Amino acid sequence: MRDLLESKPDRALPVILPLEAPAGRDHGRQRMLDALNCSPVDRPPVWLMRQAGRCLPEYRALKEKYSFRQLIQNPALAAEATLQPVRRFHFDAAIIFSDILVVPEALGQGFNFRDGGGVEMDFLLRDRHDIRRLKTQGVPERLQYVADAIRLVKPALGLRAAMLGFAGSPWTLASFMLGGAAGAHAQALQLFRSDRALLDVLCETLTQAVIEYLQMQILAGVDAVQIFDSLGGLLPPEDFDAGSGRWMREIVTAINGQVPVIVFAKGVRDWKSLLETGARAIGIDHEADLVEAKRQLPARVAIQGNLAPDLLRSAEPEAVAAQTTRLLELMRGRDGYIFNLGHGVPPDAKLENLQALAGAVQNFR
Ligand code: CP3
Repeated sequence: MRDLLESKPDRALPVILPLEAPAGRDHGRQRMLDALNCSPVDRPPVWLMRQAGRCLPEYRALKEKYSFRQLIQNPALAAEATLQPVRRFHFDAAIIFSDILVVPEALGQGFNFRDGGGVEMDFLLRDRHDIRRLKTQGVPERLQYVADAIRLVKPALGLRAAMLGFAGSPWTLASFMLGGAAGAHAQALQLFRSDRALLDVLCETLTQAVIEYLQMQILAGVDAVQIFDSLGGLLPPEDFDAGSGRWMREIVTAINGQVPVIVFAKGVRDWKSLLETGARAIGIDHEADLVEAKRQLPARVAIQGNLAPDLLRSAEPEAVAAQTTRLLELMRGRDGYIFNLGHGVPPDAKLENLQALAGAVQNFR
């Protein structure tokens, strides 16, 4: 931890302050857990994918002093970045500040972010030798900093907000590891077609690593976990289960009810495969029809989503509030609804729009 900070020795670590108690009582953690359990709530809980990060001035201030890598690897800094959006918007859940790519890194395949945006893996997996060389032993040990950050965030949240852990799905991680930057993701699909057995070896390795990693997060105290299958939609619908669904099913089965699991598979409409993962909640992206999802998903499964992220950049706050309320009205009476976007907060989202969204949910009855 010391050498992480050595490049900027003059900077003191932030002190982690408990969240201020808001006026009145608020039990965001219980609200989130009740919604995940499809129990009645006073109003749907709200949190946003990628709620921490570049749209927040306080995050940009941290980024002036520390690199992204320092922010995720130093537990006090990661805890601070996790808490920032919850302090500002009183969300009902905090998601640990990290990245899905720390798992490939722990397996021996590092990554970096390009200055202009986008991600670059240090090298790409090319053949079975590269895949066999992955360091499958000691993954949770190398990711210990995530557990340490969770242990700092938990007491700061108290009962105000649920603590969420997360991981990428094996298919999505494999796509980054084989193809690297967005755009080259066709590599995974190509391997799926040309050498399914080899892709399965990689996905099996990733499945075990993700299970160990999520178990570590659960031990550190997360209340629920989300699996991001952000690239699930790259698979043709008839191949989704074989390429991605089955691995997520293995992960949810291994978690075995210890904490609720949310599965977010962007661009995927194979509700059957998603339901068969055993997930407690299913994330709906903004291109899917929320009412259709409500109609097709059984009442025992919670639904999360699906406001269009672009609205946060381009619309006026009144329109954001109106669209937020429209979705809440569509889902009125459906126990187990969690308000969220259909994908992550854009880096250039307007703060007043995030505020309008949060306010609209928090004032909804
Ligand atoms: O607030 C939160 O949601 C927690 C933090 C979080 C990050 N990444 C931080 C981050 C989470 C949950 C993720 C998940 C993630 N990472 C996904 C799945 C979600 C999704 O968006 O589909 C994916 C595909 C990644 C991989 C990734 N990370 C890419 C492709 C990039 C580069 C593109 C970009 O947005 O810059 C990242 C970078 C990243 N991850 C940033 C943050 C805050 C930006 C880095 C910076 O601050 O400079």
